[in-house]
Amino acid sequence: MNVSLKIHAVLEPYQKDSSCSAMSQGPLQALCRQCNFLTKSQNNPQVCPYGLYAEQLSGSAFTCPRSTNKRSWLYRILPSVCHKPFKPMDQGHLTHNWDEAETEPNQLRWKPFGIPRASEKKLDFVSGLHTLCGAGEPKSRNGIAIHIFTCNTSMINRCFYNSDGDFLIVPQQGKLLITTEFGKLLVEPNEICVIQQGMRFSVEVFGETRGYILEVFGAHFELPDLGPIGANGLANPRDFLVPVAWYEDRQVAGDYTVISKYQGKLFSAQQDFSPFNVVAWHGNYTPYKYNLDNFMVINSVAFDHADPSIFTVLTAKSTRPGVALADFVIFPPRWGVANNTFRPPYYHRNCMSEFMGLIKGRYEAKEEGFQPGGGSLHSMMTPHGPDAECFEKASKARLEPERVAEGTMAFMFESSFSMAVTTWGLKTSNCLDRTYYKCWEQLKSHFNPSCK
Ligand SMILES: [Fe+2]
Repeated sequence: MNVSLKIHAVLEPYQKDSSCSAMSQGPLQALCRQCNFLTKSQNNPQVCPYGLYAEQLSGSAFTCPRSTNKRSWLYRILPSVCHKPFKPMDQGHLTHNWDEAETEPNQLRWKPFGIPRASEKKLDFVSGLHTLCGAGEPKSRNGIAIHIFTCNTSMINRCFYNSDGDFLIVPQQGKLLITTEFGKLLVEPNEICVIQQGMRFSVEVFGETRGYILEVFGAHFELPDLGPIGANGLANPRDFLVPVAWYEDRQVAGDYTVISKYQGKLFSAQQDFSPFNVVAWHGNYTPYKYNLDNFMVINSVAFDHADPSIFTVLTAKSTRPGVALADFVIFPPRWGVANNTFRPPYYHRNCMSEFMGLIKGRYEAKEEGFQPGGGSLHSMMTPHGPDAECFEKASKARLEPERVAEGTMAFMFESSFSMAVTTWGLKTSNCLDRTYYKCWEQLKSHFNPSCK
């Protein structure tokens, strides 16, 4: 193949290609398809082809075992280091101050978070970040944060990177065209994407846009182990898509703003050129996306419930075996067939924290009140479960095979951290539903000592 043809391949726009998998577990864990022609036998030649600079992005300690070692090599027109010094900038409602509001142990539910119109207030993906809750902190590399993003404007000559951790982004309304150093990702509702620590990206939106973000400090997301399930099932590696290289050689004369979230605060720096100047890359540290419709659901086919961990898409492990910093769990459309079983979610008190969101449809345990674009938080050991109406209905339902959650996609961020809720979450957002507790008030006793 001659060089010009190979360059064309490098510039191929993003497309679905199941041969590219960010979750590949091959011995080399490398995605070399895009730049073999640049550096066939080494990463960092004395002079790179086409006059490019080589830059490594490390996503793990150099010394991590091969199974967890992550890095990519980027071949770019100018290296990332060419910028003016970072200065503090306004960070709106983004915070990692977990002591700003009174501790709140109650069940919490939020109405859909409002999205201002662009004619009222312009918000892009970064200025539209609102921290809802979280725990831990990035300095010690142990913690999580849950953010809501509401925006109506594309990022123009602005990019963002998170020095603190990884973003798992769940769009709920409006699609996101995300330009990254690795290429472009179009992410629509019912898809998710993960932008890992340090990766620069800029978000284009197409109207009023809203979604959820799970941020983890100190671990990367990975597929859960399958144990007795075997080699296939849940989220399969082949369905995770990574972008192909895309670049622009664009000068912006001191007017391109690079925003870094560092130790929970935002900083901005100016530079003269677009940071999306990576002509080719290879490596196993990449952004990626996943369509939730590809999740292979496994569930009880006899009686009782499997625990919701059976619906885990991605997990960010803590250092304690079996305990996650946070899991991303979904409740997709599926068949319910369990015999002699109360089929909705069971009543529950958990040693983990459960934040739930709804991308579309109606959630089975609470058909009213929990709406797309809203959320709920059931904190550590805070009781929760189906509302009174759901209990009465499901206790009397004739048990036949039935479709559950058709047209619906609810999800849960489940964490081993005891999370604090921010002032924005409790007050400023003006979305907290103070009547939530009432949905259980109608539950009545059915106890009858003489009737077994
Ligand atoms: Fe629960």
